[in-house]
Amino acid sequence: MKRISLLCVLALAACCPKNNTPVYLDPSKPLEERVSDALGRMTIEEKVAMTHAQSKFSSAGVPRLGIPELWHTDGPHGIRPEVLWDEWDQAGWTNDSCTAFPALINLAATWDRDLAHLYGDCIGQEARYREKDILLGPGINMGRTPLNGRTFEYMGEDPYLAGQLVVPYVQGVQSNGVAACVKHFAVNNQETRRTATNSVVDDRTLYEIYLPAFKAAVVDGGAWAIMGSYNLWNGEFNCHNKRLLCDILKGEWGFDGVVVSDWGGCRDDDQAVTNGLDIEMGTWTNGLTGAASDSYSHYHLARPYLERLRDGRATEEVLNDKAARILRTVFRTSMSPEQHFGSFTSPEHFAAARKIAAEGIVLLKNDGVLPLNIPQGGKILVVGENAYKMMVVGGGSSNLKTKYEIIPLDALREAFAGKAEVVWERGYVGDVTTDYNKVITGQDLSEKRTAGQLKADALAAGKDVDCIIFIGGLNKSAFQDNEGTDRKDIVLPYGQDELIEALAGLGRPMAVVNISGSPVAMPWANKVGAIVQGWYGGSESGHALADVLTGAVNPSGKLPFTMPKSLIDGPLKTERQYPGIREEGKQWWQEYYDEGVFIGYRWYDTQNIPVDFAFGHGLSYTTFEIGKASVKRSGAGWKVSATVTNTGKVAGAEVVQLYVSDSEASVARPAKELKGFEKVYLNPGESKKVSFTINKEALSFFDADKHEWVAEPGEFHALIGASSADIRADLPFTLK
Ligand code: BGC
Repeated sequence: MKRISLLCVLALAACCPKNNTPVYLDPSKPLEERVSDALGRMTIEEKVAMTHAQSKFSSAGVPRLGIPELWHTDGPHGIRPEVLWDEWDQAGWTNDSCTAFPALINLAATWDRDLAHLYGDCIGQEARYREKDILLGPGINMGRTPLNGRTFEYMGEDPYLAGQLVVPYVQGVQSNGVAACVKHFAVNNQETRRTATNSVVDDRTLYEIYLPAFKAAVVDGGAWAIMGSYNLWNGEFNCHNKRLLCDILKGEWGFDGVVVSDWGGCRDDDQAVTNGLDIEMGTWTNGLTGAASDSYSHYHLARPYLERLRDGRATEEVLNDKAARILRTVFRTSMSPEQHFGSFTSPEHFAAARKIAAEGIVLLKNDGVLPLNIPQGGKILVVGENAYKMMVVGGGSSNLKTKYEIIPLDALREAFAGKAEVVWERGYVGDVTTDYNKVITGQDLSEKRTAGQLKADALAAGKDVDCIIFIGGLNKSAFQDNEGTDRKDIVLPYGQDELIEALAGLGRPMAVVNISGSPVAMPWANKVGAIVQGWYGGSESGHALADVLTGAVNPSGKLPFTMPKSLIDGPLKTERQYPGIREEGKQWWQEYYDEGVFIGYRWYDTQNIPVDFAFGHGLSYTTFEIGKASVKRSGAGWKVSATVTNTGKVAGAEVVQLYVSDSEASVARPAKELKGFEKVYLNPGESKKVSFTINKEALSFFDADKHEWVAEPGEFHALIGASSADIRADLPFTLK
């Protein structure tokens, strides 16, 4: 069904005598006046109808009053194709192939707030053009375990980094009259048994690690929508978790937008009404499966809600609050005073996708193999399935139908056309699927050769080449970077480790490109000349990778998570921590966040556990010096400054990172925590000064007993560096 456009609504207003134009239809009137005017005209049934889905991705408007439906769409990486009315499968429209933007983890690796805004703005324009009002993203759950199947859809392991990037993303989206629906609120850090696991997390850990990025999205970004997560926290499902939604989100943070359930995440008739949920989406009648034929009227917030309102178990006051939030969303989006029309698959969007993808690629190691310097008439051997396999299709709800996708092999051939021959050997077979929810890539990934033959062919092809580029890693099939399942280990699948070692044994200059959305172990790291962390880069992924490999773009990405040597080095040691345990008398799996605030580099650095590549690490084709660092009192806080100089021969960018360390505290604190960063672009020889402000908040921990942030007097250190492990200046200062 086509949404009623604002023009029709205005036409409706125009046919009433001028001074009788209803306030809610008058875009010049203040938002809250429009909301209360509309609310006053609605019946209970109309209000209830707005609180639940009427199709897979829409919830009702008020047709009698000309108030449009709300259209929701995945997701964080591009606008999902239209689906059938009550199906996940695409409907087969011919005008809905979108720009696929890089995965959010790729955006996080740019450490660039401007690019986050650009991303949000572009995807917001695509959503608006496609007449979508609520964009189901971005996802900002913390990287607690590297195994989480949705790590690629999130922004890494640090709450400050995610918080800094989510704000411009949200603002960019919403500048187009589209609500960003930030997900999945909260402590939803794994896919294994995601709908049946109770996360047991203490308040300090919650406030320090799992809430800050959401708070930033709401308080600083002004997000208009939040999606509740599938799991439980402290015994209540998060789509109707009173403490999370009523007390913290709507209470402490003053959120005035709409809470949307995850699809099928609403589980209880009463709690759906009382505990802060506003729109119930994706439910089947018995919770998660087995829909009745008129399933939408069986939703928790449909017939059962009406019954409760009629017999007095539910109040109209609570209903009015939900309806007001939904109306606010309509007046902020499709009925906003500003007319937005959006744009779709424009050259600018593809250029933005390419830029973001390239800026997030991380050069992990380089002994001079990169940028590629191949003699005229030379030969490059590319090995690996990910050089060829299209990656936009797959992975769960972030699956997209894109107008085009450039694969790395084609981009490299384009880059070296007329200069060098680029030959490809598959090397191994990974995932041969080429479709998801009826979106098909059209590639043929079938393979007749045995594993042994594939390896032998790759090795034979590598004997006389100028360079070998291995492009492998993970993909979006089950138990890899994929919604609904976690990985089982961080070891590369399909025998890639052995293949990489064998190729390295040929003694040719060799670079390994790991395409993944989550950390992998790299036991061969010392045996290859260069290592590049690529990601799922979207439509322009191949071009972005070729740009970096050839040096057309100087890499400036930094890891948004730690690359550990092995899974057992990490903080999750027991089953009760991950993936959770069954306990006598408890209905749901219990998962104890016993590691507290010590996840990611907070764990590795504090425990002094060596990792392959640290959080924040990333090299460049040039070199940077960070010097002249100082810390001074300034107002209520401290000003930390440093000068960064490009000491190499090409232009490039360094991300100067500020960590704070508390020398002594009454609670166990991480060795260091990120509290500032600045990405600085410099020509050769150029210097710039970067400054950060440290306020009391940056020194504080959350005292759960007092329910407040506490900064204890004593010595602190401002640590300035190029990664969490590469600290170039250590500046002590004292809080009196
Ligand atoms: C996912 C959400 C997504 C929703 C709608 C759920 O399964 O968890 O992230 O937005 O489906 O597709």
